[in-house]
Amino acid sequence: MMSPKDPVKKLGVNIDHIATVRQARRGSEPSVPEAALEAERGGADGITVHLREDRRHIQDSDVFELSRKIRVPLNLEMSISSEILKIALKVVPEKACLVPEKRQEITTEGGLNLFRKRTQLRRAIDALLKKETEVSLFIDPDEKQIREAARLGVPAIEIHTGAYANAENRVRNGELERIRRSAELGAELGLRVHAGHGLNYENIFPLLEIPEIREFNIGHSIVSRALFVGIVKSVAEMKKIIVGGR
Ligand code: PXP
Repeated sequence: MMSPKDPVKKLGVNIDHIATVRQARRGSEPSVPEAALEAERGGADGITVHLREDRRHIQDSDVFELSRKIRVPLNLEMSISSEILKIALKVVPEKACLVPEKRQEITTEGGLNLFRKRTQLRRAIDALLKKETEVSLFIDPDEKQIREAARLGVPAIEIHTGAYANAENRVRNGELERIRRSAELGAELGLRVHAGHGLNYENIFPLLEIPEIREFNIGHSIVSRALFVGIVKSVAEMKKIIVGGR
């Protein structure tokens, strides 16, 4: 249960799947900006999209349009490739979350390894920070990665919750513990701690007990529920859980 002293936790809604449906016909519906505005009406504190190198869902024009039309902050998930970085520097989103990207993956499979592609990583971080974009690094709940994120001078990390979300019972408890320790360490090192991947209306509850996690980025479960109840309601339900706890 949240104590009154806990800062309010925020909900970023990932709307990539709206673009996935649109791209099934390469047409104009459903509208990505309209979906974002519906998510805002439901209480989203931010809108997240991943401009993938293969453009399988979100397109460049979506990112530009969203940055003009939404009122809440835009969080651009992006690889550190120079092509994507160039676009991000034109859009100048309020937030950017740097993620690893593999062509064949169905979704982002693991966190960034901050000890690889150092020059490219440094260049992306510096260029985005110079534009005053709040940079977060999407990393596994791993001590070495968290410490390295702090050394890289970013303001935030997003802890990959996929292993927790996919695990069962005892393994899940172990994963939860890793996330808890990582969130504590991140906050101790002065990082804003976000979490995301695979979270839904059930498995989010234990994570709400971790005060250091300030923001959740959730897509699949919210868009899936929206098919039955609409976006405003599916977002509002998640927001209520996040703000109210159990
Ligand atoms: N955070 C990051 C960095 C992601 O790559 C994704 C998936 O695009 C999410 C959060 C949202 O994950 P999900 O769609 O499983 O809620």
